[in-house]
Amino acid sequence: MTPPWDVRDKTCLVTGATSGHGLAVATLLARRGADVVLLGRHRAKCEAARDGIARETGRTPGIVVCELSSRKEIDRAAAEWLALERPLHLLVANAGLVTRHRRESPDGIELTMAVNYLASFQLTLRLLPRLVRSAPARIVIVASDAHRIATLDPDDLEQRRGWWWFMGAYAKSKLALLFFQRELARRLAGTGVTVNAVDPGPVASGIADHEPGLVAPAASWLIKRLFPSPEKAARTAMHLAASPDLDGVSGTYWRFMERKEPRYAPDRPDMDRLLWAWSVARTGVDFP
Ligand SMILES: NC(=O)c1ccc[n+]([C@@H]2O[C@H](COP(=O)([O-])OP(=O)(O)OC[C@H]3O[C@@H](n4cnc5c(N)ncnc54)[C@H](OP(=O)(O)O)[C@@H]3O)[C@@H](O)[C@H]2O)c1
Repeated sequence: MTPPWDVRDKTCLVTGATSGHGLAVATLLARRGADVVLLGRHRAKCEAARDGIARETGRTPGIVVCELSSRKEIDRAAAEWLALERPLHLLVANAGLVTRHRRESPDGIELTMAVNYLASFQLTLRLLPRLVRSAPARIVIVASDAHRIATLDPDDLEQRRGWWWFMGAYAKSKLALLFFQRELARRLAGTGVTVNAVDPGPVASGIADHEPGLVAPAASWLIKRLFPSPEKAARTAMHLAASPDLDGVSGTYWRFMERKEPRYAPDRPDMDRLLWAWSVARTGVDFP
């Protein structure tokens, strides 16, 4: 019989691990004895996060530098991982952003969709053979309850038509993650790899500060003081990542330590397929 899940000495890759929720998850995993690898886009930030975690936990995480808005960069980082013969037991797809104005990635895709959703799709599928080989393994997708205000238009996933606003784009990217998670859970059945999604709830992070003018300085000040700390917010992601109670559980969505039903809009069977096909076309990777 497979022993109950324990993250001690498991190899765990956390994206967006240089600040906020991702840094908290990486720190908590290291505290529990996991072999953590931090993925971030700036080497200096990755090194600062690594040194902070090492000081606090006595375990020194590894680093993968990768700009997640670039398809080429994700392929390179995944290829480097696969070449190392390194196992992968847990992938936490956490990186995310908001932008004040509609911007595009180097590959010409609306930036919020590119980083928050497509990067997780591409990185997860590229690393999937290693997750399956390392099974039992887990994937934790950091979504958001903001998805409840979104609808996905399969003919306009790049949001070129109509009125664009940052929160709408953010919500769409998080809804796309939930569609992805549902379809991936279906495809992974029987492989020993599970995938679940989490909304950390409000986090006292600097996510809105990267874009000057997105929120007023007073609001940013209040967010940092009134919202739960990243460590507190990371509790639910840690539950999905580390709890033996979730052995074999897949395709679920969690918020504040409770399982919730996401709102899929439109919830029609071909939406999963259409989004999947668009994502394959944009990233060049499919279910192996
Ligand atoms: N804050 C909230 O209230 C809240 C609520 C629900 C869900 N979430 C979700 O929680 C996750 C973490 O957000 P957070 O609040 O902790 O914000 P954060 O502190 O800004 O963390 C975001 C992380 O993503 C990384 N990142 C952003 N763009 C990237 C790119 N192009 N390539 C590589 N890495 C990139 C950032 O790297 P840099 O350090 O280099 O910028 C950072 O490490 C996100 O998915 C967010 O949507 C947050």
